[in-house]
Amino acid sequence: MKYKALSKEAVARIEAELPKYPDRRSLTLPALRIAQEDLGYVSEPAMIDIAEILELTPIQVYDVATFYSQYNMKPVGTYLVQVCKTLSCALVGAASIVEHLQKKLGIGIGETTEDGFFTLKVVECLASCGSGPMMQINDRYYEQLTPEKVDQILSDLKEQGKSALATGPFMLPALQGQK
Ligand code: FES
Repeated sequence: MKYKALSKEAVARIEAELPKYPDRRSLTLPALRIAQEDLGYVSEPAMIDIAEILELTPIQVYDVATFYSQYNMKPVGTYLVQVCKTLSCALVGAASIVEHLQKKLGIGIGETTEDGFFTLKVVECLASCGSGPMMQINDRYYEQLTPEKVDQILSDLKEQGKSALATGPFMLPALQGQK
């Protein structure tokens, strides 16, 4: 097979997007998203595949992938915990939530728990500035966090795969059920 990391389906999805964009390079962000959905993270071989499909150099793809926190550059746990550290959240205690998560999970920022359940990241504004401190876990928001809420959320996710403390983001009915 021509491509080393991406599945045939992922390559087909990227190629199907091509007509929607003015040139191949404009497809870099969607291609990285598709690669992440395919592999769980954006590996170096995946970036080389994307470069080949989009007729770019691997470093051009790497530059884009490493600029955005949305792309995971290494494998992550079942639940990717991303805590906002930007000003509005920082002013209402984001740092203490991060500290609590580190202690509770026994990992540092950028690390994954031994059981593979949780990866902890600290990111810039997630557009929920009025309800900090907040975090995003996979595609759900959890807002106005306290250490107690964090404990409840982590245990809900581990035991039931979801938590009633999720507060958003709120999706259009047409998008509900989609990833
Ligand atoms: S500052 Fe935290 S969501 Fe915007």
